[in-house]
Amino acid sequence: MTKTTIPVHLDINGHHHELQLEPRVTLLDALRDRLGLTGTKKGCDHGQCGACTVHVDGERVLACLTLAAQVEGRTVTTIEGLAREGEPHPVQAAFLEQDAFQCGYCTPGQIMSAVACIREGHAGSDDEIREYMAGNLCRCGAYPHIVAAVRQAALEVAS
Ligand code: FES
Ligand code: FES
Repeated sequence: MTKTTIPVHLDINGHHHELQLEPRVTLLDALRDRLGLTGTKKGCDHGQCGACTVHVDGERVLACLTLAAQVEGRTVTTIEGLAREGEPHPVQAAFLEQDAFQCGYCTPGQIMSAVACIREGHAGSDDEIREYMAGNLCRCGAYPHIVAAVRQAALEVAS
């Protein structure tokens, strides 16, 4: 059986990519398998864990539930696109300072969610951070350190 592919133009971390993809290919698989951007993790592949969180036009989305073709003409940012001029993003730096990970598998998704959470204005208290980061699971239970990192980064961004 021949597979039908379509041209898909993607803007990822400021770089333009032209791919031939089956229409059913997810953004997550396009990033990881076609573009080698493996920082975005595949946890559940069913929208349950947040490991695949990326930004589309600045909003957080689950790449496992998003078709690559759906984001044509939009701006995608992955964990690889957060640092600026060799300097880690303040949220990345805060995760390091607060030791906010153990195995690290959930960490890219946590960081992408945290950047959006702060940008959305939902990092005003630990309870609010927990609520708005609830879609990002951590099997290692690093939650107290993750909340501390988001709190630190939110204060730095505000100052
Ligand atoms: S891999 Fe997308 S939510 Fe788990
Ligand atoms: S640090 Fe291991 S899953 Fe979160």
